[in-house]
Parts: sequence; structure tokens; C-alpha cells
Amino acid sequence: MAIKAKTQFVCNNCSFISPRWQGRCPSCGEWNTLAEMSVTSSRKSGGVLQAGAVQRLSELGPENTSRYQTGITELDIVLGGGIVPGSLIMLGGDPGIGKSTLALQLALNFESQNRTVLYVSGEESGQQIKMRSQRISAKSDLSILTETSLESILASIELEKPNLVVIDSIQTINSQEVNGVVGGVSQLSFATNSLMRLAKQHHVAIMIIGHVTKEGMLAGPKTLEHMVDTVLYLEGERFSALRILRTNKNRFGGINEVGVFEMSEKGLSEVANPAALFLEHRSHELPGACISAVLEGNKVLLLEIQALVNPSNYSNPKRASSGFDANRLQLILAILQRRLNINFSDQDVFINVAGGFKVDERAADLPVALAILSSFYNKTLPQDFLAFGEVGLLGEVRGVMQTDKRLREAEKLGFKQVALGGKQTPDNKKIAIKAIGEIVELKNLF
Ligand code: TYD
Ligand code: MG
Repeated sequence: MAIKAKTQFVCNNCSFISPRWQGRCPSCGEWNTLAEMSVTSSRKSGGVLQAGAVQRLSELGPENTSRYQTGITELDIVLGGGIVPGSLIMLGGDPGIGKSTLALQLALNFESQNRTVLYVSGEESGQQIKMRSQRISAKSDLSILTETSLESILASIELEKPNLVVIDSIQTINSQEVNGVVGGVSQLSFATNSLMRLAKQHHVAIMIIGHVTKEGMLAGPKTLEHMVDTVLYLEGERFSALRILRTNKNRFGGINEVGVFEMSEKGLSEVANPAALFLEHRSHELPGACISAVLEGNKVLLLEIQALVNPSNYSNPKRASSGFDANRLQLILAILQRRLNINFSDQDVFINVAGGFKVDERAADLPVALAILSSFYNKTLPQDFLAFGEVGLLGEVRGVMQTDKRLREAEKLGFKQVALGGKQTPDNKKIAIKAIGEIVELKNLF
């Protein structure tokens, strides 16, 4: 009896599987993304099933956990102490954010520590990589391979057996063994799986780079997160030099560490003490500004929050916010209006976080409220003052986590007065601390 090959249709954008072809994917709504794939059953009928080998944990030898130090301290910290040989790391981020730069710096550092690296690029020519490496370091040599065929990349890795492989980017790699467009889900997952197997087999650490666009979060690298050992994201605003490296997943370490970098002409440089980074732009002695201490991963950053409250010319007064959630701003205004009896209905209110930073921590509620009041009353807050605390709907102000850590940074940078949420005043000899339990108490600060 002839066996009919079974096929199914898989969406390149979201991996939705459909038994028949459709013009539009019912799951993600994209057009023309369904591609035909053959389904091969791995279980042959009539065969005898073999049991897998079961092991006891106590029988397993100690893991060889010696990691490669990358020479980039912030990267080592984020990875949980360095790169584990045989691990597959994905480095994601918006196009142009600096992923290739970071990977190249990593590769050059490895090379200078007499470890072997293979830098595979499917995006840039050898000349382009050379130019970039010369910008980063005067003395740079590296084995590079400009190739997009998965089979030939796998063969080169097996031949060279380097300590580290960089694949820039996974979206450009394609295999003859699978159907589907280059950069589509089926190609991406096949390439990632093959690289994962090779990494484990030959004990090669592999870093794959993936572009993640804000619109296409679902597509591409997001779908690879479950396959790889470690997921790193490099984030930042194009117009600012600050870059933050985050871990979304790490099979070899924690995920609360973040690395802070600055993009310069010579590539990414580490910012070891980022607390004061944003205070450079600080406006001195002006009404409408309040400093806050917010947490970014495990690091404390001191930021200036600015507010402008102005009589409105519109029947619908304006509320605009940059770097702070606009809905949260509406909420804080409503609470201030109710509890402090201030009428904001004929006032425009603008909020800005200096330095282009985006705050998504509740600890910024209290400094936002204070900046608004400072602008409204036209009175400055003291230069050595900062605040942090969460504002509740009923006008209560609550404490936030890691108060001690925030206070330590404040003290280091010379702040002498702190207002924080909650009813308890922590002991501190160097800083005058004021606990704010209710938002009405803010009146007393002006
Ligand atoms: P790149 O690493 O190519 O980004 P990605 O791989 O994430 O797409 O870097 C992009 C930008 O970084 C580019 O516009 C130029 C800038 N850049 C610097 O400012 N300094 C440098 O030393 C390098 C190499 C790049
Ligand atoms: Mg790149």
C-alpha cells in the first residue's frame, strides 16, 4: 500500500498549525504566512520501544562548572559568573541597538585571552567586521566566516572546534532541510535546535544574535526563548547612549542582574557605578524637580523627575508624560486633587524623566507627586533631597522594597534628606528621613 505523505501548514509568524492552507493566519492575522511542511512520524508502527537509561542524581559526577570569564565584567555578572562551555545564549534587541558591537567585543576579548572564537556573520562582510573591530580595539584578530547556510556553518564549527561561536544573526541562517522563508519560525527553530545539539555535543559555547522589533515581538527570537539556555536582551533608546543588558532566562544563574553600558565611538563601555549617571543632567534649584531612587534589576539609579503645571488654554487640559506611565500620572493627579483639594481641571500637567530613562517602578509615584506640587506651588525642593514611595488610591503612601539599598546610594551621592513611603522611619545617622504615611502630609514639605 502506498503511503501518502501527510502535510500541514505552519505560520511563519506565530507557529500556528493548520491542516489546510489559508490566506490569512487565524491566530495572528498576518497574510500569506502559512507554509507547507511535511509531517514525519518518528514512531514506526510495529517496532519495539526501547526504554531510556534512568540515572540517579547521586550517580552523576560533579559538573564541570568552570566558566569562561568574558573580560566584560557587567556581562559576566549578568550571565551569573561567565559563559558556561556548551551553553547556547541568545542575545536579542532592536536593530541598531549594539548587539553586533557587544558580540564582537566579547569575541575580541576571548581571542586576546588565547581562547578560540569563530565569528559567523550572515549580515556583514568581512571588511565591515574588520572596520568595526579596528574601531573597538587597535590590536584585533579574529576568525570570521561570512556564511548563511546552516549545514556549512555546522561543518565549520565541527572542524574548527572553537571555544566560542557567535552567530550574527540567527534570522539570516537557513537550512536546505526545512521549508519556509529565511527568518521564519520553522527555519529559526531548526537552526537553533541544530546549534543547541552541536553546542552540547562538542562543548562549544554559542551566542546567537536575534533582532526583536517592538511590533514583531511574537515573531522570530521570542519563539526561541524556550529552546536556548540563556536569553539576554540589550535595551535602550536610540537617541541616548545608555544601554541596559537584561536576562530573561538563565539556566546557569539568576535573572535579577542587569548590566549598564554606554555606547561610545569605541564600542560599548561598562558603567560600573550607574547610580549618578542621570544626575548629570540635573537642573539646579528650579521648581518642578524631584530626585528619586529607583531600582533597575539589582541596581539603584538616581533620577530627576520633572513636572510642569501650567494654566490651560484648552477646555480639556493636557496631560503628557515621557518616561512615566501616563495612566499612573492621571491617577496621581486625581489623588492629589481629592486629598489636597487642588484643582487641576484647569491646569496642563507634563511629566518628564530626565536623561530619557523609562521608570516603571511604583517607587516613582511619590517623587512624581512631589514634582507636580513643587511646580504648582512654584517652590523648589532642597538640593540634597530625594524621595521614593508608592501612592495608593486612598491617598496612603507605602514603603517600597530595598529601602536600605536606596538609602545607601543616596548617602554615597551626598543626599541629606529623604522622604519615603510608610509609617516607619528607618534608623540612619547621616540622612534625615521623613516617613510619609498619607499624601496630605506632602503639604508640610513646602
Ligand atoms: P550594531 O552593533 O551594529 O547594532 P545591532 O547589531 O544591534 O543592529 O550597532 C549599531 C550602532 O552603534 C551603529 O548605528 C553605530 C553605533 N556604534 C557606535 O556608536 N560606536 C561603535 O564603536 C560601534 C561599533 C557602533
Ligand atoms: Mg548587527
